[in-house]
Amino acid sequence: MEKNMNKDIERILFSEEQLKSRVKEVGAEISRDYKDKNPLLVGILKGSVVFMADLMRAVDIPCQIAFLSARSYGLKASSSGKIDMDGDIEYALGAHAQGRHIILVEDILDTALTLYTVSGRIRELNPASVKICALLDKQVSRSIDLHADYKCFDVENEFVVGYGLDYAQDYRNLPYIGVLKREVYSAD
Ligand code: PRP
Repeated sequence: MEKNMNKDIERILFSEEQLKSRVKEVGAEISRDYKDKNPLLVGILKGSVVFMADLMRAVDIPCQIAFLSARSYGLKASSSGKIDMDGDIEYALGAHAQGRHIILVEDILDTALTLYTVSGRIRELNPASVKICALLDKQVSRSIDLHADYKCFDVENEFVVGYGLDYAQDYRNLPYIGVLKREVYSAD
């Protein structure tokens, strides 16, 4: 099916301007809290890539970045309950997780199963601390007692895409976050 990205959007939830100014605020918060701590920002691919690119530039203290690949698989439009992590976590983090202050950077905290799994693996490497920075927090679907330490926005139980978030790998390059029309995903 050919997709016209903008036509598939029911409404814009967060505009480019809103995203920019909120990400700046969260970056400033992190800069204050982690002064002299040299945090390691760890983005969870692929959804976090746009958020990470903006967030790291909103952090004005020394920091490093790394990426881990994790995805839930199975159902298309909702979390499957199974998490697949690619690669060697120590290699991905440059084997420097021990004693580091780690901030996991995620596009959306949904059931939280992804971050529960990833943060558990990271804790095995004895970091100094592990915190979570989520662009979006969809608390309504939370199945695990895990919360975001930093977040940009709360969202309701709607199918959101753009600014890194996808549906079947599409729409990640929309510069805003929008609600996907139901007919787009219910047709699959
Ligand atoms: C999405 C999103 C989060 C995760 C959140 O990733 O990017 O990583 O789901 O869901 P959860 O809190 O219920 O675990 P997805 O598996 O779709 O992979 P992607 O990042 O490559 O899009």
